[in-house]
Amino acid sequence: MLRDTLFLATFLASGLLNVPSAFALEASAGKPNIVFILADDQDAKLNSLDYMPNLQKQLVQKGTHFRKHYCTVAWCCPSRVSLWTGKAAHNTNVTNVEPPYGGYPKFIDQGLNDNWLPVWLEHEGYNSYYTGKLMNYHHVLNYFDPFPKGFAGSDFLLDPGTYSYLNPIFQRNKSPPVHHTNEYNTDLVVEKGLGFIEEAVQAKKPFFVTIAPIVLNTNITLAGESSKSSPIAQTSSPPIPAPRHANLFEDAVVPRTPSFNPDVPSGADWIAELPQLSPENVTFNDLWYRQRLRSLQVIDELIDSVIEKLDAHGVLDNTYVIYSSDNGYHISQHRLAPGKGCGIEEDINVPLVVRGPGVPSGKTVDLATSHTDLAPTFFSILGITLRDDFDGVPIPVTEKTIEDLESSGKAKEHVQVEFWSKSTGQEYNADYPEVNNTYKAIRIVGSSYGFYYSVWCGGDHELYDMTVDPDQMHNYYTTSSNGTFTTSGNVKINNHTYSTSKISERLDGLLYVLKTCKAKTCSEPWATLMPNTGVTSLAQAMDSKYDAYFAGLTRVEYERCEEGYIADAEGPVFENGEAYSGAGMIKKHRGPIRNRP
Ligand SMILES: *[C@@H]1O[C@H](CO)[C@@H](O)[C@H](O)[C@H]1NC(C)=O
Ligand SMILES: *[C@@H]1O[C@H](CO)[C@@H](O)[C@H](O)[C@H]1NC(C)=O
Ligand SMILES: *[C@@H]1O[C@H](CO)[C@@H](O)[C@H](O)[C@H]1NC(C)=O
Ligand SMILES: *[C@@H]1O[C@H](CO)[C@@H](O)[C@H](O)[C@H]1NC(C)=O
Ligand SMILES: *[C@@H]1O[C@H](CO)[C@@H](O)[C@H](O)[C@H]1NC(C)=O
Ligand SMILES: *[C@@H]1O[C@H](CO)[C@@H](O)[C@H](O)[C@H]1NC(C)=O
Repeated sequence: MLRDTLFLATFLASGLLNVPSAFALEASAGKPNIVFILADDQDAKLNSLDYMPNLQKQLVQKGTHFRKHYCTVAWCCPSRVSLWTGKAAHNTNVTNVEPPYGGYPKFIDQGLNDNWLPVWLEHEGYNSYYTGKLMNYHHVLNYFDPFPKGFAGSDFLLDPGTYSYLNPIFQRNKSPPVHHTNEYNTDLVVEKGLGFIEEAVQAKKPFFVTIAPIVLNTNITLAGESSKSSPIAQTSSPPIPAPRHANLFEDAVVPRTPSFNPDVPSGADWIAELPQLSPENVTFNDLWYRQRLRSLQVIDELIDSVIEKLDAHGVLDNTYVIYSSDNGYHISQHRLAPGKGCGIEEDINVPLVVRGPGVPSGKTVDLATSHTDLAPTFFSILGITLRDDFDGVPIPVTEKTIEDLESSGKAKEHVQVEFWSKSTGQEYNADYPEVNNTYKAIRIVGSSYGFYYSVWCGGDHELYDMTVDPDQMHNYYTTSSNGTFTTSGNVKINNHTYSTSKISERLDGLLYVLKTCKAKTCSEPWATLMPNTGVTSLAQAMDSKYDAYFAGLTRVEYERCEEGYIADAEGPVFENGEAYSGAGMIKKHRGPIRNRP
């Protein structure tokens, strides 16, 4: 049985989905299961994984660690909706944490409650269970309006008690919400999660269990149980650890990397104008960091319990255990207060560790992967035919499929990043000015090079060479005295030196296609931008024969800043007629990049 299952998993993950019928019969008795543990606000860059011994022992050493995994929107709700639908945020149009642009009501309005993972899995004969935080603005006044669809069992945290570490509110299946006074939020999520695994095994159907504690989020009690329209944060404070973890890691402080509270400002737009943190701020932020590591211990304990329980029921060998977080987090980097929502590596790079049938042990993978790829990945490992409207593609999880992709030279090397809002970086700090924080970006993860390129709604641009400047301290773009943004300097790609202006033109062209991409164009943007050229990577696109084309291509720019996806604020949209059509093709240059309004 075990061998068949292993073989099936390898077989399915290799993309050969037409399983011979005799084999399919046998397989249906042993369809694999998934337990998905989704942390909240957990960084991959600030060493949080080093403080999780069980995660290291049970998942990193016994599974595969995807170190270049990214969220595409560094904010809970839009990120989670992308994850559950396999679509970019610009295609779900759930782009914020609260209405009108986001939150549970927007998820419902977009029709996604009929069109997301638990519903799809239900059609495939899977039982889905969920406990913890589903998404923002899912609260005591709207949880039934309608109920989230597709679950065989659910026990959700609800606002205004979602982030209350000591007074959470839960809502089970179709029952009314229950207030848990003076009970520890994440311990309850763990207990409920383990209960659902038990229930899932007893039901004797293949299962997908999600356990989503708020572990690293801030401690907030939201206002307005009486008002449907305003669960607004009143006060917030660092995460509160369980009493048994309250004194751990007394010496831990935020890693003092080059971007830690730097002497000279860094970044772009409002970040470049932040004052340096005072010693009091730094001390407070270090405490915040420790409280995160402490509160994280509950989830680390959970990992051991999950493995133990699966093993006790004899289903461990047939179950994938997958660990990730909705978005990353920054504390003191670039002078920022604790928070998320920026395009910096701390906020977008998130943990992804997979253990399960056919998944290599102790392997690290540095292919570019994103949350948009997770729904397709779940489909792929469960042997379900992929949907045509997925914007992501399955992440390979078997030794052979990983190595095939790594050696093909065809691995996707981009992650598209997007954001719409006023500054969310201010959420823990009333003193921050209210600023526009709307931008589009690309993170390039090549096999021997890496870049981050962004365009802000106010006009600012960023270009970082992530190979030589992983802390993003040297932006190649500067503001000229006449207000235009220009690049200077050279960077290397595979030992060839190129001017940053030529690289920016390529990256801007790629972003131009990606910012409104759908389905295959999202995973293969070069094929849309440069059809029939065979170009699949930035390195190939650098060929000087394409210089004139890129120099003439429309640049990405905003008309104005908006807090949601308002199409006419987001400038020109790529049309197929603008694709590269041969060496002679030269278009009218649109002139220098505009000043910010
Ligand atoms: C947690 O947040 C609530 C309300 O926002 C606050 O009353 C409580 O004091 C906070 N707890 C700690 C330990 O900061
Ligand atoms: C730094 O500390 C001061 C004084 O306590 C406070 O007013 C300010 O908001 C803090 N700034 C940040 C970014 O935390
Ligand atoms: C603005 O200044 C830059 C750098 O000095 C120059 O290259 C550019 O031509 C100027 N643009 C305009 C519109 O004057
Ligand atoms: C770049 O040059 C170095 C030294 O000559 C060589 O070892 C390396 O393989 C080259 N890298 C690439 C990507 O060609
Ligand atoms: C935010 O963007 C709007 C619209 O583009 C603009 O009017 C406003 O001045 C911007 N606010 C700040 C603080 O830059
Ligand atoms: C996204 O949703 C907002 C709010 O409902 C709406 O105003 C906007 O037009 C939508 N954007 C697109 C591109 O459909």
